[in-house]
Amino acid sequence: MEWKQRLSSVAVMTGPSSAASGIEAFIRDLPKVELHVHLEGSMQPGTLLELAAKHRVDAVPDSLEAIRNWYAFRDFPHFIEVYLASVQTLCDEEDFARLTADTAARLAAQNVRYAEVHVSLYNHLMRGVPARVVFDGIEHARREAEREHGIRLRWIPDFPGDFGVETGEETLDAVLKDGPESVVGFGVGSVEVSREPFTDLFARARAAGLRSLPHAGENGGPERVWEALDLLRAERIGHGIDSMRDPRLVERLREAGIPIDVSPTSNLRTRAVEVIDEHPLPRMMEAGLLVTLNTDDPPMFGTDLLNEYRVAHGMGLDADALAALARNGVAASFLDEAAKRDMTAEIDAVLARFR
Ligand code: HPA
Ligand code: ZN
Repeated sequence: MEWKQRLSSVAVMTGPSSAASGIEAFIRDLPKVELHVHLEGSMQPGTLLELAAKHRVDAVPDSLEAIRNWYAFRDFPHFIEVYLASVQTLCDEEDFARLTADTAARLAAQNVRYAEVHVSLYNHLMRGVPARVVFDGIEHARREAEREHGIRLRWIPDFPGDFGVETGEETLDAVLKDGPESVVGFGVGSVEVSREPFTDLFARARAAGLRSLPHAGENGGPERVWEALDLLRAERIGHGIDSMRDPRLVERLREAGIPIDVSPTSNLRTRAVEVIDEHPLPRMMEAGLLVTLNTDDPPMFGTDLLNEYRVAHGMGLDADALAALARNGVAASFLDEAAKRDMTAEIDAVLARFR
């Protein structure tokens, strides 16, 4: 029963201790999916340094230590400020390919088999980087990664909602013109504003076959989640933790079986929650919500997906609950049904061996 004990250190990657090695191996062996991770927020500090030097981006600190300090976020808007600065280091096709290759290799090394990756497309368009440059770079690396590691990646281009609906229109136009078939959805992120102005935009995205995958209720309150459901017809909710403040909303999400991408360490590091013990993940699961476990922006938050499973375990979730999170991820993904069946069976087998 040692795996039921709470682990003390949850905010930062700790690696296995001998007492936790059973659960550590279990977490490693679980086949996993990532449904909420930002490509640009997956840049390792070393890559960030090199690209900042390559393109002379002054807004980025010039040492690893300074970058680590830079990643101490005062609040969510401060996180977004740092995110926007680091995104400026991505300029040419090679930069996008390199970031994608590294991200895919790191995911594969954690036994992540499939990922739906947010791409902050508008943040590149606004700097004059053409959508073709972004898509050519990430597609080249996506195909290579699939050959080399067997991992499958799909894309969710998005735009910062606080920049206004016109930026969303421009982003969607670029996706519909230049986006590859591996684009599965369309998203909105950044500082959380009302989703109401994006109603027609998301209707257009859905009509073009894109899934509606907005961030909502990360820190903007339950009303943003209602809007995401009723106006944007969201198929999944990015973060959604504020839903727990509204019992009617919880009931709606539960009844409709809408998956929620939860990222505990992200919420802690952007100070959406004060302390990890107050994170609603266990309550969300108890309430019967279809919760998945994700990293959001792993190096910026000092985490990765293995660590998120450790953190969830530290919140009192046992191996059965961790396996349920992994199964939920598969169910909430846009994988084909055969792949879903295979992965679910493999999760069940890993759980049976653990028991
Ligand atoms: N929320 C909103 N926008 C973002 C995030 C996030 O967690 N990460 C990168 N862009
Ligand atoms: Zn996010």
